[in-house]
Amino acid sequence: MSALPVSRNASLQGHVAIVTGAARGIGAAAALALAEAGASVAVFDLLAADETVAAATARGAACRGWQLDISHEEAVSAAVAEVVAALGPVSIIVAAAGVMPAGAVDSGIRQWRQVLSVNLDGARHLVAQCYPAMAARHDGRIVLVSSVAARQGGLLAGSEYSASKGALLSFGRHIARNGAAHGVRCNIVSPGVIETAMNAHLPKPDLQTLPARRLGTPEDVAGPVVFLCSDRANYITGIDLPINGGQLFYP
Ligand SMILES: NC(=O)c1ccc[n+]([C@@H]2O[C@H](COP(=O)([O-])OP(=O)(O)OC[C@H]3O[C@@H](n4cnc5c(N)ncnc54)[C@H](O)[C@@H]3O)[C@@H](O)[C@H]2O)c1
Repeated sequence: MSALPVSRNASLQGHVAIVTGAARGIGAAAALALAEAGASVAVFDLLAADETVAAATARGAACRGWQLDISHEEAVSAAVAEVVAALGPVSIIVAAAGVMPAGAVDSGIRQWRQVLSVNLDGARHLVAQCYPAMAARHDGRIVLVSSVAARQGGLLAGSEYSASKGALLSFGRHIARNGAAHGVRCNIVSPGVIETAMNAHLPKPDLQTLPARRLGTPEDVAGPVVFLCSDRANYITGIDLPINGGQLFYP
């Protein structure tokens, strides 16, 4: 059997990635995994991301942090322009920034708008800003971080969280169908319960009821994200990849 040509390996050397929500948790793990695969990484977060930047730099990657609110379109647009000037044209987006307030069926319109503005509008602003140049260069790899809540609803999160994640799924599929002819792929990952600061205050499921007998880790999500961004996934677009240790299956 012949070896894969070099251009089809998992190396992301020469790529520039923007990862949102990468000060900690799933975004941070994705940023580090992309850095390990050779990409230059721009970290977007509301929080300072010094630890992520230091860890990515220690892995030999060019990495810089931008502290901004992803729900503000002008801030995203200005930061993307700075990334292009500092690191080069952006070919990878991982949209992991998100908020998950505890809630109920209805927590009021203020919370609804706030959660959608971060979880959905934030991803939209970044994609809208980067898509034209990706399509012009015929090279775009986008991963949107949704959730099992998109398909099954949430019990501990508010309804606006589930709605934002469901909308992210349809948004991603729209980008995938329209971007395919222009070299832009867009996939969605839908994690189950991953141990991060987001759910640290919530009751944990009984591990014995989980098929894998453990919760997920940010690294469990980061590996598939890198795969989806790599040339090995060149013909994969529009998928919603469940990452939940067998807790929930869906087509
Ligand atoms: N942890 C889980 O069980 C789980 C499951 C499914 C999906 N997710 C999704 O994964 C993503 C990452 O979550 P996590 O678990 O790592 O949580 P986390 O709270 O550890 O990380 C979220 C990051 O997003 C940043 N952020 C929040 N609002 C922002 C804003 N307005 N602008 C810029 N950055 C902002 C936070 O500062 C934080 O660094 C989220 O989209 C979340 O909904 C998490």
